[in-house]
Amino acid sequence: MIKQLNQYLKTSWLGKNIIYEEIMESTNKYAKKLGEENVTNGTVVVTKKQTAGRGRRGRNWISPEGNCYFSLLLKPSIQTEHASRLTLVSALALAEAIKNVAGLETQIKWPNDVVVDGKKLCGILTESSIDVDGLKYVVIGIGINVNQKKFDPEIDSMATSISLQLGQDVECAHMIAEFLNCFEMYFSIFIQTEDLSMLLSQYNALLVNKNREVRIVDQSERVGVAIGINDVGELLVRNNAGVVESVNAGEVSVRGLYGYV
Ligand code: BTN
Repeated sequence: MIKQLNQYLKTSWLGKNIIYEEIMESTNKYAKKLGEENVTNGTVVVTKKQTAGRGRRGRNWISPEGNCYFSLLLKPSIQTEHASRLTLVSALALAEAIKNVAGLETQIKWPNDVVVDGKKLCGILTESSIDVDGLKYVVIGIGINVNQKKFDPEIDSMATSISLQLGQDVECAHMIAEFLNCFEMYFSIFIQTEDLSMLLSQYNALLVNKNREVRIVDQSERVGVAIGINDVGELLVRNNAGVVESVNAGEVSVRGLYGYV
């Protein structure tokens, strides 16, 4: 795997240290352990199969062989509160990498699901560690449904894979390396401002929520039409009265996606 990855890797600092094991509990768990052990910035942890893959909101990420599972260990000198914005940068890099490797046009469901045909193709889980000096490290964990042909009945209507979309398999090492190439490029833009201001048009062009009815669920539940993200990565939603709200957390469902009709 490392040899194949290096064949496609064009980065200058990201993925110079790659840790690969055939099977892991969770690449995020592994990368966080490395973060505690002061392992170098830009280390990438890769596996073929996870036995305890983690998703957002405490969910599991079922991780059979054939898909991509990897985590980046980053130690950026940015403000702690800005770290979660890296999730949106990752989504952008993922969409770009999938287009470059597989020729597949995807969209982003705010903040960070990569979707195609109304179904989820990738998930991103960002976890930060903070100490007295501020941000200690950030782990960005990525799962891409690459060659999976069948999904469990509970998620079958909401999930897809690159291979199901294309009708042919794709090499995971190529996918991961291209993601790292794209991420390093977008990261260099992000780091100049620590926000999405210079990536706004690219992100909004891929935003599946845009001009569609969305349902926001946090302390309360309300609906509106999403109009895009702002510089800090919040989703702008206009309600029936014309008032625009910026949403920074909570679950946002998009009508027509993942079974929301
Ligand atoms: C989501 O719920 O959408 C996020 C899923 C993130 C899954 C990836 S797979 C590699 C990395 N290791 C984990 O345990 N989770 C992330």
